[in-house]
Amino acid sequence: MFSHRTELDRAPNPFEEARARAVPRLDLTVSNPSRAALPVPAAEVLRSLGDPAVADYEAASFGLPRARETVARAIGAEPERVVLTASTSEAYGLLFRLLCDPGDAVLAPTPSYPLFDHLARFDGVRLAPYELAFDGEWWPSLPAEAPPDARAVLVVSPNNPTGTVFGDEAWSALRRLRLPVIIDEVFADFPLEGPVSDGASAGLPLAFVLGGLSKRCGLPQMKLGWIRVEGDPALVAEALARLEILADAYLSVGTPVQHAAPGLLAHAAPFQKAVRARTRANLATARTLVRGTALSIPRVDGGWYACVRVPGTRSDEAWALGLLEHGVRVQPGYFYDLAPGEWLVVSLLTPEPIFAEGFAKLVALVEGSDSTSG
Ligand SMILES: Cc1ncc(COP(=O)(O)O)c(C=O)c1O
Repeated sequence: MFSHRTELDRAPNPFEEARARAVPRLDLTVSNPSRAALPVPAAEVLRSLGDPAVADYEAASFGLPRARETVARAIGAEPERVVLTASTSEAYGLLFRLLCDPGDAVLAPTPSYPLFDHLARFDGVRLAPYELAFDGEWWPSLPAEAPPDARAVLVVSPNNPTGTVFGDEAWSALRRLRLPVIIDEVFADFPLEGPVSDGASAGLPLAFVLGGLSKRCGLPQMKLGWIRVEGDPALVAEALARLEILADAYLSVGTPVQHAAPGLLAHAAPFQKAVRARTRANLATARTLVRGTALSIPRVDGGWYACVRVPGTRSDEAWALGLLEHGVRVQPGYFYDLAPGEWLVVSLLTPEPIFAEGFAKLVALVEGSDSTSG
């Protein structure tokens, strides 16, 4: 009776079961910016939503002209090339339907954003993984040739969770593939230890650059994202014409958030400043704590996460479960297909005092267990 695309394994894994039972005192996975003790301007949000213009409805496939202009100004794009969406996830869905027929493939980085599996599956698209290879740091290892059924390449830069920013070599390899590229830049405003993403989409035949209020202003609840279309003008025009038909069938971006966009985007600077201060402080704390231990943290170019390499004396899930018993919540690396070795993922968005105490405990427990087991 139901579709194959919704035939998913719904049995909770041991980590999720344990997580549901335990209430960790030291949660190092906090990545919801609205619950991370960050400066979120509740009063301004409410004021922005109170514009009397919200009483009017105008069906606009790509969003209301004023909202598109506001977003375009904020991201340095031409308004005609900006498509508003309700979220980045929705943007992926629109682009998969624009570029792929059911059964087609998109090249996708691994390790990366776990939601890709579901997003692709729900649109009948196959993920053809390419590796972010690890040799002390991560680097995108793109194939010289794409599989014949590949219709696009996904890029997340900085990547979630490795923080990897795509460099010149990776952009050249992408140009050689001659495929449309979907570039998820939601973490580009949060550089850490690596180069800042330099918008190297120049020279790609067609590129779709994704962003949204969710990460840019820490307002995921507002449901406003965008696609910036770039590339060969004829291909851009054709892509926009087709996207318009797709977007017109849903008209999913709410009117209130579009009117509120100028007020909400004005909040980007203080939010980003606070996040950068926090992620830098937490990363510095983590680096100090792992010095001289069996744990290590490769360079984090940018973003909100750090991957912590732990000894292979236990699986990542066993380490994460053991830590949970001691009140420390982290994510096991397999959630993101992190390999080789054993990895734990921590969110650098965690409030500093919790991060410092939790990470110190993580290091002490791993070191203690490792020396007793090995
Ligand atoms: C790489 C990446 N893209 C997109 C998103 C989600 O963005 P949105 O809330 O706009 O769907 C996330 C959320 O964590 C993410 O990690």
